[in-house]
Formats: sequence, structure tokens, C-alpha cells
Amino acid sequence: MALPGNEAFAARLARSLELEVAPLESRRFPDGESYVRLAGDVAGAEMLVVCTLADPDPQFLRLAYAARTARELGAARLTLIAPYLAYMRQDKRFHPGEAVTSRYFADLLSREFDALVTVDPHLHRHKSMAEIYAIPARVLHAAPALARWIGQHVPHPVIIGPDAESEQWVAEVAAGANAPSVVLRKERFGDRDVRISLPDLTPWRDRTPVLVDDIVSSGRTLLEAARLLRGAGFAAPVCVAVHPLFADDAFALLQAAAQRLVSTDAIAHPSNAIGLAPLFAHALAAD
Ligand code: R5P
Repeated sequence: MALPGNEAFAARLARSLELEVAPLESRRFPDGESYVRLAGDVAGAEMLVVCTLADPDPQFLRLAYAARTARELGAARLTLIAPYLAYMRQDKRFHPGEAVTSRYFADLLSREFDALVTVDPHLHRHKSMAEIYAIPARVLHAAPALARWIGQHVPHPVIIGPDAESEQWVAEVAAGANAPSVVLRKERFGDRDVRISLPDLTPWRDRTPVLVDDIVSSGRTLLEAARLLRGAGFAAPVCVAVHPLFADDAFALLQAAAQRLVSTDAIAHPSNAIGLAPLFAHALAAD
């Protein structure tokens, strides 16, 4: 079953797994409330519910309504396929009184589904999904797919992670692309205010810089890294993102700063160049 906006990804997944897609009707009433109808017969079905959570606040209620309807109509098991899983970054009370939304969102999803599969959730202070999810939450990794794309499209690359958190996937991408890697240092002062410092990059000066990040939201992290790389004498970087959120003007600004800007289809976006349905299909087929 595909929630609105996820039909193409669900169709690719269904094709690979030779499954049917359960028809879901959904619309908004004039007052903004959601109408949801599951037209097919789901009694006894083990359902994969595809909903990437790039816009979680309006998406969540509709997703919960669809899951509860499926359950009431007799679905035997509901697995959420959320290529992008939202609310992973507020993983601590940074200031007194703040909501720790990573935990609350995990609790809400855990009530509606029996299991969850996602790709590269932003695990930082939470070391595993089991710390916050009460249901089995399986994590897939896009690094091999990113490495393949880089290997096929970028000559003589050096893989660059913009901050310490990126070290985990940058090393894997670099190994897969048979390239060296470097991790920069980042300090964040606000949603759109980051400062990055470059180490000595002289040994890699003749290579094509490839900036790899899990999430691009405001784009400020990659923009600042790209600016510093140009200042250090590199060509405009290739930018590769797992989750292309691209808030506001981020896509336009980054397109101007990068020689190429690509992403996975964890979130549908014109920059998508790396398909993840085979990764999900492979993992689900092995279950
Ligand atoms: C956080 O540390 C992540 O890995 C990304 O670097 C971050 O979410 C990017 O955010 P923005 O595009 O807003 O700089």
C-alpha cells in the first residue's frame, strides 16, 4: 500500500517482489481533515505500507488512519517502509523544556506498525533504533549504492564527509568506490548557521571532491563545505545525498555551487539518480 506521493517507489518495490499494490484512496476535506479508504481486500495480508516521512507532520495522521483501517479490515501484519524516517535529529533535550521528538515519534509509529524498515536513519546520540523503537526497526544502508554511482560517474574521486557524524558512511562509500576519504569538522550555531574547518587536503588536490551527506535540509552544511573546498583550490564538488529534503532555496543554491548534485529516491526529488527499491526488495525478500 502506498501513501500519497509514494506510488512510484511502491510500484518499483512491488514489481521487484512480485506483489500487488493495495488501492488506497485519500484526499483532504476542505477543512484540511483527511479522508482515507482502503478499497481492496486486505484480510489476512502481510502488508508493506510505503510512506517516506519527509513531511511528517501532515503525513503522520493519514498514515495512522491507513494503518488502523488495514488492521480493522483484518491485515495480519503491517510493516512500515519509510525510506526517510523523520524526527531522528532531536535526540536530546538540548535546552530546558524542549520536546525530545525522536523518542515521541518512535513511540507513535511503534503503536501503529509491527515492524519498520528504513535506510540510514540519523542515528547519532541514539546508538540503535532499539533504544527508541518498541517494534523491530531494520536499518538498510545506502553506502554501497552511493559507492557504485560514484565509481561509475566520477573520475578520480576523493570522498568528503562534512562532519564527524558522516564518518560512519563516508568510510564505507570510499571503500566501495576505491577512493580515499576525508572528514571535515563542523560546528552548528543555528538551523542555517554552520561553520566548517578543513584539514590539510593537499594530498588530494588533483582529485574530484565528492561531498557525501545523509540529509540535506537547509543545504548550509554542503554549501559551506563546497565554498571552503573552492577556496582551497578544488574544482566545484559533486554532492551526493541520501535524503534530499532540500528546504526552501537549498536545491537552487546547491545546484549553483556543485558541479553535480544527486540523491537517492528515499525522497522523490528531481535530483534522484540512485534508486533504492532494489535494496529494500533484496532485504525484504530475504525475510
Ligand atoms: C547532521 O549532522 C546531518 O548529517 C546533516 O549534515 C545535516 O542534517 C544537514 O543539514 P543542513 O542541510 O540543514 O545543513
